[in-house]
Amino acid sequence: MSFALSAPAAIGTQFPCGTKLNARSAPRQAARQKSRVVLATAAAGTGPKRVIIAGAPASGKGTQCELIVQKFGLVHISAGDLLRAAVKEGTPAGLEAKDFMDRGDLVPDSVVVTMVKDALDTPAAKEKGWLLDGYPRSASQADAIAAEGIEPDVFLLLNVPDEMLIERVVGRRLDPETGAIYHVKFFPPPADIVDRLTIRSDDTEEKAKNRLSVHHSNVEAVVGKYSDRVREINGDRSKADVYAEIEGIIDTM
Ligand code: AP5
Repeated sequence: MSFALSAPAAIGTQFPCGTKLNARSAPRQAARQKSRVVLATAAAGTGPKRVIIAGAPASGKGTQCELIVQKFGLVHISAGDLLRAAVKEGTPAGLEAKDFMDRGDLVPDSVVVTMVKDALDTPAAKEKGWLLDGYPRSASQADAIAAEGIEPDVFLLLNVPDEMLIERVVGRRLDPETGAIYHVKFFPPPADIVDRLTIRSDDTEEKAKNRLSVHHSNVEAVVGKYSDRVREINGDRSKADVYAEIEGIIDTM
């Protein structure tokens, strides 16, 4: 599917109502109109939507993914969640990943790439479309999926100033039953579930600083792989405002 966010604008640039066609211009204008309609239809896309969401630790990827999935029904594939599940299950991949995650370093491609490829290679992801969260985080990871013909329609990049991110990390709380993401200050959880909430082991200030520095070292190379499809989003706004912009982008894909 080709990516173009200007589908409505392209449709809107067709002949205004009341344009008069004469014998000489009519065929040419009709042909032009037809090609615009074809272009707009291709741009709007009829197949499943394929979205990558990226950003620094705690920039709000997971939070926005909850909302995107509710509206668009895409299959959410979070590299971090896949890895945490593997660690919890004690699989060989999880055992290999654990130390890297504990430090806030990138897990080797030999572990992550297969995991993500397998998650993308499911009937549900192919039929409903997918929302890839936290992958790729390096040029080599981008190349690995491109080699399989896996390309996003859009690459969303959430931008949040570093000084905000540490506060978001250390205040994050997770509901293991529903998967909901809270924050002690920004999105306080309901009182009746507070006791069951968990804190990620890498959500300390020290580890978050390393995760942030790993992000800064790699982000440019990854963005460069999708430069024709990148949409940068100011993530330093309310959750609803950030989502409104994302929703508009995905809607017009
Ligand atoms: P991963 O789990 O992907 O962690 P991350 O990238 O560090 O991102 P986070 O999950 O911390 O944050 P988020 O952006 O989802 O923010 P959230 O919505 O929760 O990866 C963990 C580790 O796994 C990595 O360090 C690495 O070791 C490994 N790994 C993962 N992918 C890998 C890969 N591809 N290759 C190699 N290794 C990989 O929000 C955070 C907090 O902010 C919450 O409390 C939330 O309530 C709050 N918040 C959200 N939005 C707002 C807002 N608008 N205003 C105020 N607060 C907000």
